[in-house]
Amino acid sequence: MRKKLTVVGAGNVGATLAQRLAELELGDVVLVDIPATEGMPAGKALDIRQSGPVYGYDGRITGTTEYGPTAGSDIVVITAGVPRKPGMSRDDLLNINAGIVKNVSEQVARHSPNAILIVVSNPLDAMAHVALRVTGFPKERVIGMAGVLDSARLAAFLAEALDVSVNDIQPTVLGGHGDTMVPVARYTTVAGVPVTELMKPDHLAAILQRTRDGGAEIVKLLKTGSAYYAPSAAVAAMVEAILKDKKRILPCAAFLEGPYGVNGLFLGVPVKLGARGIEQVIEIRLNDEEKAALQKSAQAVQDLVDVLKRTNIVSA
Ligand code: NAI
Ligand code: 2OP
Repeated sequence: MRKKLTVVGAGNVGATLAQRLAELELGDVVLVDIPATEGMPAGKALDIRQSGPVYGYDGRITGTTEYGPTAGSDIVVITAGVPRKPGMSRDDLLNINAGIVKNVSEQVARHSPNAILIVVSNPLDAMAHVALRVTGFPKERVIGMAGVLDSARLAAFLAEALDVSVNDIQPTVLGGHGDTMVPVARYTTVAGVPVTELMKPDHLAAILQRTRDGGAEIVKLLKTGSAYYAPSAAVAAMVEAILKDKKRILPCAAFLEGPYGVNGLFLGVPVKLGARGIEQVIEIRLNDEEKAALQKSAQAVQDLVDVLKRTNIVSA
């Protein structure tokens, strides 16, 4: 029997993700959006299904404004929310998206209590916190997508600068999905060689900064929204790792209770992703400068969670 995959939010990220999941034949996909866009999720699902004969995939793709058809999902991905516009930071989306993610999480907990939940909505780490608290799911089953995307951006920039295949770059980006994210040059290698040995420090520093600004660069170009091709590819890789129990080591936002000196917050760290969700948090040894950067990033996430606590969206 095929796995059941629900994608909440049938906008740019959600619909592109549904298409990728269908093409990868990872399961049957249910695409959900709000009643205000009645017909839209069903229309997109029908269109994706009609690509099947061309590509040769078989899964069922349905679109709906109800949660009934999502019942018993194995994986639910939350992409519902508002994307940023030029000049906005991800944090500017906090209040509006917190309400949306809270509402969606309640429905997920009711209809798919055993699902693994992947959160995409921004500001990512704070939205994962909302989903964890509202669903009451164990922390292994609530995962934020950001690090796979941020690492892919770093890899793409390095591959171009060094004129090598993206396949030979092993990028490392830690921290929150915001301006304080922490690309770690020491643990970024090209066919096993630290990138610090392959590039001049100034050139490397510029690429690390471009990685931190990777989302904003695209928002500035698009003007009407934010990135979705690479984000949906990143989520599809996570879904595949879970469904195939691949035990891949991927950077994801995980709820930390101790590792990296962080307690009670989501933060991007390397994790082992398998059939049980986050099966292990991998702790890599950081130097003082890297530790300080990660703490700064954790504080930025904490500040957002504190706002959510003050507005009673989450209580802890
Ligand atoms: P979009 O505007 O294209 O799609 C969002 C969809 O969510 C819309 O169709 C909207 O109707 C739907 N929606 C709103 N409230 C809903 C509710 N209560 N229930 C169900 N659906 C609801 O936006 P896009 O580009 O798809 O981005 C979605 C979110 O993902 C944004 O918050 C964006 O910032 C975030 N994002 C996060 C990334 C990451 O790395 N974590 C990467 C890319 C986007
Ligand atoms: C990005 O980094 C918007 O968070 C999204 O592209």
